[in-house]
Amino acid sequence: MIDHLLLGEKAIEAKLMALPKYSHFHVGSALLTEDGTIVQGCNVESSSYGLTICAERNAIFKAISDGHRKFSAISIASDFDGYTSPCGACRQVILEQCGDVDVVMINNKKELKILKASELLPFAFTDDALPTLE
Ligand code: THU
Repeated sequence: MIDHLLLGEKAIEAKLMALPKYSHFHVGSALLTEDGTIVQGCNVESSSYGLTICAERNAIFKAISDGHRKFSAISIASDFDGYTSPCGACRQVILEQCGDVDVVMINNKKELKILKASELLPFAFTDDALPTLE
């Protein structure tokens, strides 16, 4: 059983791989699948700034590309001393692709703040709103 602290430490580890060439702000993420696999991601920045990918979405897209579909938690760590909260784009992707998972934020003292994805993105837009194709 992988606990939340270990998942947070995996986000700290993932941060080491970050490529924040412009912001110099390192972010790491670790995504726990239902079968116990941990998939790590980091932020990767582009000279065309808008093409930057956040650590959380990198971890999620890596995991999906590897065939994972069911998730139980995602963690986030950064250079910030306090808790790093996922950006708005990542909140949408976490809730949509991972479901209402635990979002584990770890600070520089290895303390945890844990919220549900739905608490971070209340009244979310979902595919319930989209028309079904006949
Ligand atoms: N960043 C993340 O990786 N995740 C977040 O949830 C917030 C922001 C990255 C994007 C960019 O590379 C850097 O942090 C500064 O915004």
